[in-house]
Amino acid sequence: MKPIKAAVLGCGDRGNVYAGYALLHPEEMEIVAVADIDAVALKTTGDKYGIPDTLRFKDVDEFLAADVKCDTVINATMDGAHYYTAKKLIERGYDQLLEKPIVNNAEELEELKKLAEEKGVSLIVCHVLRYTPFYKYIKTLLNAGEIGRIFTMEMNEHVELVHFADSFIRGKWSDEKECGSGLLLQKCSHDLDLMCWLNNFTKPKAVSSFGSRAYFLPENAPEGATEFCYNCPNGKTCLYCAQKIHLDLDWFYFQTWRGIGKPLDEITREEKEEFLKTSDYGRCVYTLRRDLVDRQTVSVAFKDGSVCLFTVVGGCSSGGRFIHIVGSKGEISGKLEENKIKISRTVRKDGGFEKTTEIVDLSDKIPENSKHSNGDMSLMREYVRFLCGDRSSISLTTIDDSVSGHMCVYAAEKSRKEGKTVELEL
Ligand SMILES: NC(=O)c1ccc[n+]([C@@H]2O[C@H](COP(=O)([O-])OP(=O)(O)OC[C@H]3O[C@@H](n4cnc5c(N)ncnc54)[C@H](O)[C@@H]3O)[C@@H](O)[C@H]2O)c1
Repeated sequence: MKPIKAAVLGCGDRGNVYAGYALLHPEEMEIVAVADIDAVALKTTGDKYGIPDTLRFKDVDEFLAADVKCDTVINATMDGAHYYTAKKLIERGYDQLLEKPIVNNAEELEELKKLAEEKGVSLIVCHVLRYTPFYKYIKTLLNAGEIGRIFTMEMNEHVELVHFADSFIRGKWSDEKECGSGLLLQKCSHDLDLMCWLNNFTKPKAVSSFGSRAYFLPENAPEGATEFCYNCPNGKTCLYCAQKIHLDLDWFYFQTWRGIGKPLDEITREEKEEFLKTSDYGRCVYTLRRDLVDRQTVSVAFKDGSVCLFTVVGGCSSGGRFIHIVGSKGEISGKLEENKIKISRTVRKDGGFEKTTEIVDLSDKIPENSKHSNGDMSLMREYVRFLCGDRSSISLTTIDDSVSGHMCVYAAEKSRKEGKTVELEL
């Protein structure tokens, strides 16, 4: 097999994760061009993959003008740039691996889907969780009818407190007006996609949702809290102290320090300290006024009568995704991060009843340091095979099967904001 040629549009964190597949498997994939509006990101990624200057571009238009020959474009630009960039790439006939959220509203999503179909190009969405051994195994059980017809599905996402603070209170997804996507679209388009994909024997028909920002508010700030953490008297006790999180522990460094505008390994501690005195990353999580919810529930009714419930909450002691599916012949439950799936059944035996429980342990399928429970690299492996003509993946589906989850998200946000149930026509 000749390696597929990929260009990377958006050379930030995610773009580099996917491009990294080429370093692990050079026989399967080669990065041939890079594009980014940020000069530092462009140079860092261009240098990493040995891309000549003539194949480094400052944006999608410059990339298109050069008429680069490649098998796919990995579009890992930020949420608000997806519609413009994805549309341009489809119009020019490029197959594309597009980060989620696909786009920020239903109208643009319909338009891109239609355009991709008309142009005959593939538009594959980075729903990485579908590719994890955990969810793939569950999907295989459901497809084989192991627990019969689905009655209900309960799903929860707990967002760990530092992750929540860094990404959704202080960080680049903290403001729906600026970013274009709220918590549900940004963080949980994965979960609603999983719900619809696992249950794709039918289609969603109605959605209702409740949610609010009820904790990260000025009235809940510790006594004497200041606007920035660096001079706050609660530095030794507050769970969200920016100095502790970012300077001492350096958690989420790949997001936090981007605003300094230098390659990560050249940034000094003094520059980080100064940055935290002026940037949102150094502000109090309670008084920093942002518009994202910190809890939300979504109920989805499906056409076959199954009802599914999803809850997300930010600010948890530990993060994780939980699932419990009840079917006519048994139940499946588990926590993604534990990589163990429990299958329980009540069966008839010798004229009586017998309760059975089976635990499937998938931990040995998760390499050390893998991201998203090995979803990222599994997605790339299956995507490369897809480009080579292999259509056997149960996770990788066309754009048509990737829109239901997003449509549920848009409907849920409408329901939450307008206080009513929203019907879907899918
Ligand atoms: N699949 C997942 O699990 C997952 C996880 C995190 C983020 N994401 C999504 O991935 C995307 C990228 O997130 P990230 O964390 O890598 O962000 P990032 O800020 O690290 O990277 C985005 C890059 O795109 C560049 N960019 C923005 N607009 C551009 C444009 N018009 N043309 C060219 N380059 C442009 C930025 O300069 C930046 O370098 C987002 O849509 C995000 O929501 C997905």
